[in-house]
Amino acid sequence: MSDGFVGRQSLPDLGIWDKLKQRRRPISFDLEITARCNNDCRHCYINLPAGDREARARELTLAEIERVAGDAVAMGAVWCLVSGGEPLLRSDFAAVYMALKRKGLLVSVFTNACLITPAHIELFKKYPPRDIEVSVYGATRATYEAVTRRPGSYDAFSRGLDLLREGGLKVRFKAMAIRSNVHELAAISAFCRERTKDYFRFDPLLHLRFDGDPVRSAEIRAERLTPEEIVAVERADEERFGALQKGCADGQLINPELEHYGCDHLFHCGAGNGSFSVGYDGTFRLCSSLWHRDTTYDLRRGTLREAWELVVPRVRDLRSTNKDFIERCRVCPIINLCLWCPAHAALETGSMDDWVDYFCAVAHARAAALDRAR
Ligand SMILES: C[S@@+](CC[C@H](N)C(=O)[O-])C[C@H]1O[C@@H](n2cnc3c(N)ncnc32)[C@H](O)[C@@H]1O
Ligand code: SF4
Ligand code: SF4
Repeated sequence: MSDGFVGRQSLPDLGIWDKLKQRRRPISFDLEITARCNNDCRHCYINLPAGDREARARELTLAEIERVAGDAVAMGAVWCLVSGGEPLLRSDFAAVYMALKRKGLLVSVFTNACLITPAHIELFKKYPPRDIEVSVYGATRATYEAVTRRPGSYDAFSRGLDLLREGGLKVRFKAMAIRSNVHELAAISAFCRERTKDYFRFDPLLHLRFDGDPVRSAEIRAERLTPEEIVAVERADEERFGALQKGCADGQLINPELEHYGCDHLFHCGAGNGSFSVGYDGTFRLCSSLWHRDTTYDLRRGTLREAWELVVPRVRDLRSTNKDFIERCRVCPIINLCLWCPAHAALETGSMDDWVDYFCAVAHARAAALDRAR
């Protein structure tokens, strides 16, 4: 990895101000209001137990959330995605939601739906969210609870979903295609598509834990499908495969950054370009998955404006001298089919510019499938 990282909470050189002047404003941000969850999904990158007192004590308070949201709006943000952990687990969820709405933000909510009550329905009807996205972990009780490891969670999910739909609230769905539910993926897709005209997607790509917990990361690895299985589930889903084909139209698997051939910048994605993420304890990141310690900023010790104006340009300016990066991933013609990015590489290897064999195998299997379909 190159030198010159932003050390945790240290601010960059004054020379950065020139770059700062060119930066765009933030448009949207993710807010993880808790890492705790009522479920314990096998594949989960973040969850801590619902009763974890330490995790609860570290959560941003309502007042801190108001401050961050107010700063974000003052800087230009218009849209906030509230997630977790399970956001509805917070007893002050309604107050947090209303605080964001009062700032004038469009608010999206990611939830497992298990904790939805009639009071949430009234809240959402009166003050509509931009969207509510519900994760579906199985189409049957057995599979759902094999993933969530919480007896009773399937009934809670079904009740919550019924409440949302009876309340006339539009729901979007998503599913993760993982070892514990892949046998039921077609049924999960049918379940979701029957219940929404709006939006459904499934994702077979799992990244590792944000907290680096080796036991939980091993559980995630165990839930990963093989490259061949990923290709098979994507090939079997017309909509999904069509989207992949469209993304690689005209027989070209294009890396849009290839024209910068030889460039050693690490970041060519949208991280910190109009959006950012705030963790449950106030950790600022350029995107949700970017937890490398040299790229984060503690909003309890500094302001959002400092993070946006000083840390983001410095991180976006990071360069690599690693040949694996410069000669492989950086110039890879199929990077659009790959989960590789500096954030996911760091979760996998500790380093933002290392190659990841599993990601590579998945991307090549996808490329071969697209080639065969041509
Ligand atoms: C962490 S959850 C938080 C919101 C809510 N609890 C839920 O389940 O929708 C957000 C989404 O991330 C997905 N997810 C969990 N672990 C993942 C992983 N290791 N890699 C990619 N996505 C993951 C979940 O399945 C869910 O759809
Ligand atoms: S419901 Fe969401 S936050 Fe909770 S364990 Fe599952 S994926 Fe993680
Ligand atoms: S891991 Fe492989 S497929 Fe993915 S970007 Fe790097 S070289 Fe390309």
